[in-house]
Amino acid sequence: MSFKEQIDSSKIPQHVAIIMDGNGRWAAQRGNDRIFGHEHGVEAVRAAIKAAAEIGVKHLTLYAFSTENWNRPKFEVDALMTLLVRVIKSEASELNKNNIRINVIGDRNSLPPKVAGEVEKIESMLSQNTGLNVILALSYSSKWEIINAVKSIASDVKKGKIDTQDISQELFDSYLSTANIPDPELMIRTSGERRLSNFLLWQLAYAELYFTQKLWPDFDKEDFWEAICSFQNRERRFGKTSDQIKKPNIK
Ligand code: FPP
Repeated sequence: MSFKEQIDSSKIPQHVAIIMDGNGRWAAQRGNDRIFGHEHGVEAVRAAIKAAAEIGVKHLTLYAFSTENWNRPKFEVDALMTLLVRVIKSEASELNKNNIRINVIGDRNSLPPKVAGEVEKIESMLSQNTGLNVILALSYSSKWEIINAVKSIASDVKKGKIDTQDISQELFDSYLSTANIPDPELMIRTSGERRLSNFLLWQLAYAELYFTQKLWPDFDKEDFWEAICSFQNRERRFGKTSDQIKKPNIK
């Protein structure tokens, strides 16, 4: 039986986040340069988007480029930016046909103007769609995002817009770039690494973590659905006991 057939459609996570890792190693295994791996990674991005949309996931966050990735060799950074622009342009009408939205989170000011412009164009072109919301984390890091939120909250306290007493988890959520988006229930990382790498640190507080040895360019729809099956077989306790989860009437 395929993994897709094993999925319980009443327990689909609303939000799945993915750290797409292993493009460089995939290319090296084939005696090619890292860019070759990123180019093949695009096929896996398509597969993940389709797999998520087909089972009714509402939000899919993809870690496409971290703040730390700016430290990679210039030719790799440039190639990744060029690839992003090319993919955004070439996929726009297909995404639109499939009722998919795109939202970019991250430090837009640090993006080359060409990339920032294309990002804005595709976001507005797809903004009325009501299907899967693909959140691209681009020049993103969680610590950057959290510091920004803290600065904005401090500034609003200073202006008298909010009171220190109003600062709650919900208020903090509303200052993050993921405001109004439910926290991911499942985080997938490919390539065998078991780290969060500065990705959605606040939002992943209660996420189930799923690690696979597969390198990103090899990750396909069945791999995505296998992760969903693993998620559905876990008991999510949120600090409670197993008995409390199984028998909700127990106090
Ligand atoms: C990590 O592999 C991957 C990246 C830093 C870039 C991800 C980009 C893509 C999948 C292509 C385009 C994306 C979109 C959204 C169109 P790595 O380079 O760290 O691999 P390694 O750990 O094996 O060196």
